[in-house]
Amino acid sequence: QAGVFTLDPGFTSTASCESQITFIDGDEGILLHRGYPIDQLADQSGYLEVCYLLLNGKLPNQTEFKTFAREITQHTMLHTQMDRFFDGFRRDSHPMAMLTGNVGALSAFYPSSMDSADPEERRLASIRLIAKMPTLAARIYKYSIGQPFVNPRNELSYAENFLRMCFSVPAEDYKISPTLSKAMDRFFILHADHEQNASTSTVRLAGSSGAHPYAAVAAGVACLWGPSHGGANEACLNMLREIGSVDRIPEFIARAKDKSDPFRLMGFGHRVYKNYDPRAKVMQQTAHEVLDELGVRDTPILKVAMELEKIALNDEYFIEKKLYPNVDFYSGIILDAMGFPTEMFTVLFALARTVGWVSQLNEMLDDPTQRIGRPRQIYTGEAMRDFVPVSQRS
Ligand code: SDX
Repeated sequence: QAGVFTLDPGFTSTASCESQITFIDGDEGILLHRGYPIDQLADQSGYLEVCYLLLNGKLPNQTEFKTFAREITQHTMLHTQMDRFFDGFRRDSHPMAMLTGNVGALSAFYPSSMDSADPEERRLASIRLIAKMPTLAARIYKYSIGQPFVNPRNELSYAENFLRMCFSVPAEDYKISPTLSKAMDRFFILHADHEQNASTSTVRLAGSSGAHPYAAVAAGVACLWGPSHGGANEACLNMLREIGSVDRIPEFIARAKDKSDPFRLMGFGHRVYKNYDPRAKVMQQTAHEVLDELGVRDTPILKVAMELEKIALNDEYFIEKKLYPNVDFYSGIILDAMGFPTEMFTVLFALARTVGWVSQLNEMLDDPTQRIGRPRQIYTGEAMRDFVPVSQRS
């Protein structure tokens, strides 16, 4: 029978891999980074501390942290010729198009990074990518709104620097808010790494061929863009806006349950979590803090989100399918309240996930037995057959 064949007993999927970085228990809603629960890291740690943890396998002591933070700070600038890449983009280009292009182009300025087999070159590329993503993301935002680029300042924290590069204007410097900086830092922590998600698997597969870290991360950025993955935060906020008011929620719940309707409830469901995404809980609490700080509590969007969550969590369809809010459900509310346009949401996700991508890439390449990734397939096509000349074809 065409396409029928028996699997070689030794057939194993090359899609799975071993890692010591992140552990997820989807049934229990548990997420650990190097053994530390995500809610403890979000509440008690800082993003750069978590970056050190993901990269090195342990939390830094004070001296290690100061050295690491200083090294990141020293690499926040972009080569001035990078500014010219922007001239090729229309102002209304999607920010993820600009990010995908610019991350790959970064490698043009660091030719020694082409050798991904050199651990020190990879470590330096990791530092540069983590350090430069906020500067690049802020430039993308400034370019899209026609405002001048703002350079990083060494005395500011990672999150403060990013917010200032986004929101400072020549006429008035950005006023640092400790609450918003902490919320931004926590947003970065919650998006730092998540085991073998689609974009991380993309980075691993691209890097397994020997492609340098900038190319591998650019591939991860492209994959994250999809609305089923990192693009969900943008799609979720657009959905909440489309719902608009609490009384329209049943209409959208019905659409989400209708198999003939491709509509999905954005920010709900997950390939792995069949329980509440632990990141969503922290994100919800952060959303309330940000809205309180900005004095915009109880916005229509937050009311819709809270009511939508309550209805969905009590709906037999979502209960039976084990669909819970995920990391993207509340993140858009935070970013929207901070003043970011929805098109920038996935750029911020990519900024934060860069440390996870490079940590997982390094873990793979540090393994001397590592070989090029080569997922196999289950062939369901035609069995072997002889060619027929065109003159004999009906
Ligand atoms: C991220 O992998 C990661 O770790 C990703 C991520 C990370 O940090 O890297 O966590 C980030 O990508 C979070 C997910 C963001 N995406 C969204 O919020 C988009 C909306 N969610 C859906 O597209 C969906 O839930 C997925 C893509 C996330 C998962 O899809 P699956 O694997 O099909 O989900 P499932 O197998 O659990 O679905 C079970 C059933 C299916 O129906 P049946 O085939 O059984 O009839 O539930 C349905 C699905 O069709 N379903 C939904 C739904 N999600 C799944 N129905 C309505 N609304 C939804 N959101």
